[in-house]
Amino acid sequence: MAMVETAEAHSHRGDPPVFCDEHSSLHRVVGGVRQRVRVPFRGTPCLSAQWALGSHKMNQAAATGQLLERSEELARIESALAEARSGRGRFVVVEGPAGMGKTALLAAARTAAAEGGMRVLRSRGTELERDFAFGVVRQLFEPPLAGASELERADLLEGAAGVAVGLLGLPGAPAADRPPASGVDPSFAVLHGLYWLCANLAAVGPLCAVVDDAHWADAASLRYLAFLLTRLEELDVALVVATRPREAGTDAELLATVTSDPAAEVIRLPPLTGAAITELVESRLTGVPDPVFVDACLRATRGTPFLLRVLVEALSEGGIAPTAEGARHVERIGARTVGHSIRLRLRRLPEHAGRLARALAVLERGDLLQAARLAELDEAEASDAAELLRTAGILESGRPLTFVHPIVRTGIYSDLTSAERAQGHRRAARLLAAQPGSNELVANHLLVTEPAGDDWVVERLVEAACKAGKRGALEAEAVFLRRALAEPPAPQTHYGLLLDLGMAEASAGFAEWPEHLQQAVDTAPNVVAAAEAAMVLALALNRTQRFAEAVDVLDRAASSLDSRHSELALLLEAAAVLPGLNDPATAPSLALRAERLRERAAGDPAAPPELLAAAGFTSILTNEPAWVGADFATRALLAGGGAPPSPHGEPWFSFAAWFQQATLSLLWADRYAQLRPLLDASIAQARVTGDSGRLAIGLATRGWLALRRGDLCAAEVDTRTALAATELPAPPLYRVLSGGVLVNALVGQGELDAAEQAPLDFEAESRSLPAAVFRFARGRLRIGQGRIAEGLEDLLSVGDILTRALVTCPGFLPWRSEAALAHLALGDRDPAGRLAEEELELAQAFGAPRALGIAQRAAGVIAGGDRGASLLREAVDAFERGDVSLERARALTDLGALLRRRNRRTEARELLRQALDAAQRAGARPLADQAETELRATGARPRRVVLTGLDSLTASERRIAELAGQGLTNREIAQTLFITARTVEGHLTSVFRKLRLHSRDELPATLAGGAPVPA
Ligand SMILES: Nc1ncnc2c1ncn2[C@@H]1O[C@H](COP(=O)(O)OP(=O)(O)OP(=O)(O)O)[C@@H](O)[C@H]1O
Ligand SMILES: [Mg+2]
Repeated sequence: MAMVETAEAHSHRGDPPVFCDEHSSLHRVVGGVRQRVRVPFRGTPCLSAQWALGSHKMNQAAATGQLLERSEELARIESALAEARSGRGRFVVVEGPAGMGKTALLAAARTAAAEGGMRVLRSRGTELERDFAFGVVRQLFEPPLAGASELERADLLEGAAGVAVGLLGLPGAPAADRPPASGVDPSFAVLHGLYWLCANLAAVGPLCAVVDDAHWADAASLRYLAFLLTRLEELDVALVVATRPREAGTDAELLATVTSDPAAEVIRLPPLTGAAITELVESRLTGVPDPVFVDACLRATRGTPFLLRVLVEALSEGGIAPTAEGARHVERIGARTVGHSIRLRLRRLPEHAGRLARALAVLERGDLLQAARLAELDEAEASDAAELLRTAGILESGRPLTFVHPIVRTGIYSDLTSAERAQGHRRAARLLAAQPGSNELVANHLLVTEPAGDDWVVERLVEAACKAGKRGALEAEAVFLRRALAEPPAPQTHYGLLLDLGMAEASAGFAEWPEHLQQAVDTAPNVVAAAEAAMVLALALNRTQRFAEAVDVLDRAASSLDSRHSELALLLEAAAVLPGLNDPATAPSLALRAERLRERAAGDPAAPPELLAAAGFTSILTNEPAWVGADFATRALLAGGGAPPSPHGEPWFSFAAWFQQATLSLLWADRYAQLRPLLDASIAQARVTGDSGRLAIGLATRGWLALRRGDLCAAEVDTRTALAATELPAPPLYRVLSGGVLVNALVGQGELDAAEQAPLDFEAESRSLPAAVFRFARGRLRIGQGRIAEGLEDLLSVGDILTRALVTCPGFLPWRSEAALAHLALGDRDPAGRLAEEELELAQAFGAPRALGIAQRAAGVIAGGDRGASLLREAVDAFERGDVSLERARALTDLGALLRRRNRRTEARELLRQALDAAQRAGARPLADQAETELRATGARPRRVVLTGLDSLTASERRIAELAGQGLTNREIAQTLFITARTVEGHLTSVFRKLRLHSRDELPATLAGGAPVPA
């Protein structure tokens, strides 16, 4: 904000403009103020104590630059610091308009923190470097990393922190630092790693991180702060951030996410009152201030400390007495603005000083030599000019050259014409470009130049965009690319830039991606490039569940291809069929095309993985025999190299979509043994590359696999991890899947409250296949809660979605069986029977053991009698073949119950014992309760289960115990599961208590043996 604007803003509100005497010597004012802002009332209980001091003392206080009327604010900060030191991390936001005293208060906070034994990290945003990816974060962490010994550094950079530091190229980054492959969005890896860097630093001793001028912080750094905030509570860290309330050109939304976090303690700085003004005036002018005079000062400055300081110094210069008479002078002089005063001040200095000041205003801060060259001065002249500016109180002493206050810089900068500014930045960019490693700074200068069709400008911006993208700073990448396009670049480069821009925007979830990706399609130099852009656009549309549009985009691209591009046409067709099938609206029109694709895949030994995976996927969903789909998927994996592919240039949200389709097909076809190592490898790879999208879908699929196999704990842990890992822009599609699996796993464990608290509503109302997975889970939850009619409604709506989408496979979601049992529970035998028989027939056609067993079990329960018993026996066998022990226990319970009712108690008892045992092992409490009740009804007296030993561990405890048993440290476990170290500690303590262990060394044996611990 320019000073002139400050004045205008004030006068808009009906206040007199900000004052400064045109004859005053600002240098002493500003320079003096800086020097006087030293640490204020530390330890002083309250302001009234200050007022109680004699006026002599008060004068002293003001003259030494003490903060006036800020003791309450400082006390709040000090108590936050104290809490942080005792292990409860705190977040304080200091908010106030320009010149209200934020920086001064932060200085006090830093001193208080240092005196309290905290390590202080500091950084500030700058106006020019708003698009310097992670600029603010780098300032925070560079010094402690650079200052650390080898040993300390090794500890700080262990694990995730090392990855982030490597990606950002911070000091101590591992030498063999590989940049992420293009196509991977490392933002999560960077944020997660930086969190750990902070946690590791805080583990050494309490930290106070101070960020000034957050309104100018770069988006990536703000994102980091937002990420850190949600985990701050468990660290010995106080984060103190100062910001102006609103500042043109900042990412207001992102800043607001940080400052309006519920954990934030917001300190809004009020203007100084007449009392403080009296004190200030008294310290500089002779005589006791008259209230009329004080009031005039208050009106002229609205109590803004910066302006007050300037005013009082100017009055002192003019030898004006603080009398009622003198108030006239305040009003007269008050017509001038601070900006005007600086201008006059500069005008009185030799010409070369003004030139250097203007050049530095463009640079914001810089080396003497840089500023000299920009000002077209030789070094000696520049050095002299810098000295003059320093004595004039415009520049700080020392190097690099900086202004004493941002308001001063803004004042000089805003006096430049827009042409001068644009030209200045263009020249600054050229000058700085000669310096190695300055690319992002150069690009930041270029952002404020006028477009001029300059290829050099485009190249620099694109270079900076790439660098930002590789660090996961997608906002900055998008800003640079947009400016590059505005230059404009040579026509032939539009396509590539638009594609990159659209991908960055789609990854970050910015609204403009459809437009830019569509423009990429439209400006493609040839049909092949257009088809590739169309595939990217379609994937992004698919990801946001805009399935019909995705099909449309792909079909249009295909229609402009001729016979020379038959392979590409095939890929487009495979890409179109999948999103099309996800949507009940488009599925019917694509059924025939999907079938043709399958025929093509079956008959072509050299079919590409994309085609084979699509064939497998549609084969299963349309309920062809499971082995057909599994074979296609297996062929796809072979054609793709037999392992999870590494990314090579595709956008992160799309790459190897075929791999995901193939793994899902194997899941639905019950090929668990084949699937598990593939998922493990893919998840491991995603962790190494920091690819959060891939990690999310990998964990969701592995969680679903665990759920189907009856390992409820593993399903819960994987999906919880996935949901924690994807709080960054991640495809809602994956979250829906993870949410569905998590709810199902919790219902299985009888954790109904936890399931209700799981994010139930996101995207659930959409009518797509992934949303159906979620609705299915919700239906089971409602039934578990005894809200059977509601549950049935959900299950039937799943059926409706799937039927419209022509998905008949019970291996995908056995909604008919579940709905049939719900009907039965409500006493509606007819629909129950109909649905159960229908599913039985479909499951027999599909042939995968789990689907078959589920259908047989439901049909058996509904049929009852001999047929029921034999169906249930068949179900038990099917589950045994499929290696799904929990489902088997469910069927055993039902069979046991049926036999008991038919008076075959001995047989029933044996089956129910097996069921109870398996249900307990799986942590499936509702099923265990059911089996136990039935068992008692047979006259047996089951031993009371004492909840100790492995069975008593919760899902998270079990997983943490396993990782600890494998030799991982608490920090490593926390990093793997995306939880905090304190959570790990808490869980391990409870594991040790439950298992009666005394050391970690005992864990492996206890876990491996699975031997129950004696009660
Ligand atoms: N409470 C106070 N009492 C006396 N002087 C103060 C007080 N607060 C700030 N000042 C003085 O006012 C001037 C402006 O304060 P400061 O630089 O802290 O403002 P700011 O809010 O950080 O402004 P900006 O938004 O421009 O960064 C400084 O010279 C400082 O010494
Ligand atoms: Mg400030």
